[in-house]
Amino acid sequence: MSTARPSRPLDRSLEWGRHYLAVSPDHFRIDYAINPFMRLDDQPDPVRTRAQWDAMVGAIEAAGARVEVLPQLAETPDMVYAMNLGLAMQRPDGSPHVVLSHMRYAERRGETPAAQAWFAAYGATTQRVGAEGVGAHLEAGDAFAWRGELVVGFGPRTEELALKHLATELQVAVRGLRIVHPGMYHLDLAFCPLTETAAMVCPDALDDASAEALLALVPDPLVLSEAETMTFCANSVVVGRTVVMPACPDRVRHWLERRGLEVVVVDVTELQKGGGAVRCLTNPLDVRLGRDLVEVPGGRVLLP
Ligand code: ARG
Repeated sequence: MSTARPSRPLDRSLEWGRHYLAVSPDHFRIDYAINPFMRLDDQPDPVRTRAQWDAMVGAIEAAGARVEVLPQLAETPDMVYAMNLGLAMQRPDGSPHVVLSHMRYAERRGETPAAQAWFAAYGATTQRVGAEGVGAHLEAGDAFAWRGELVVGFGPRTEELALKHLATELQVAVRGLRIVHPGMYHLDLAFCPLTETAAMVCPDALDDASAEALLALVPDPLVLSEAETMTFCANSVVVGRTVVMPACPDRVRHWLERRGLEVVVVDVTELQKGGGAVRCLTNPLDVRLGRDLVEVPGGRVLLP
């Protein structure tokens, strides 16, 4: 038999990633610069932006996921990056719960009331980490459920103190990674779980101890160079065996295909002008407590 088969046995797909929230780019523009990608003299074209966003949502749906859409508020141009609205999960009984982000920059804080209203209408209970609105900064683009733990980047956006709150308030293990690269200011620009054992990892995003800790955590790492990571290729969404990516260098494509993953590249270059791509533009709603995040009585923070 000579059917094309991946040269390695398939590992287990992620359990989550089949239901997302996205924010329609009704008012996307660059009004300020809070990351190195944003330039006020390089504004997105609204027509191309809309077409790219529609095609991205179409690709995610074609891969087998559902996408909920929240309209964008006129006064919050970064609200398209839905991942930062909050950390959404389902309790073991299926009821939704969301830890709302407490944005680092005041420019983005107007998004949170809209997020809270949407999540409440969706049936979710919502909370902030620590004291309401004055607790530690937490931006959900820094957080991933993976292998039973919450892997959280901190430094540029999320504060280290938020890790403690997440661990004790959610009763989970939180693994903290210190981000030091200015261009990889959220963990989702440098880390992407692909399956239960494989993940894209850019060690250059982190300090030495955190890079070592992350590499030790990933059984089958696709180690990205800084240059590869700057294509936004780690800022991808995984739906079963399909990876919806904003870019995919050849080496990365070969690696993924050898694991039996299908690569779908969507052009979101207009939306990248704000410093985010496919993962930033979507927020998974189907991470489950008790399945994707294992209950740890009292909670625990693990730092390198
Ligand atoms: N302009 C946004 C910011 O700087 C981009 C957010 C990117 N989102 C992400 N999940 N990495 O906050």
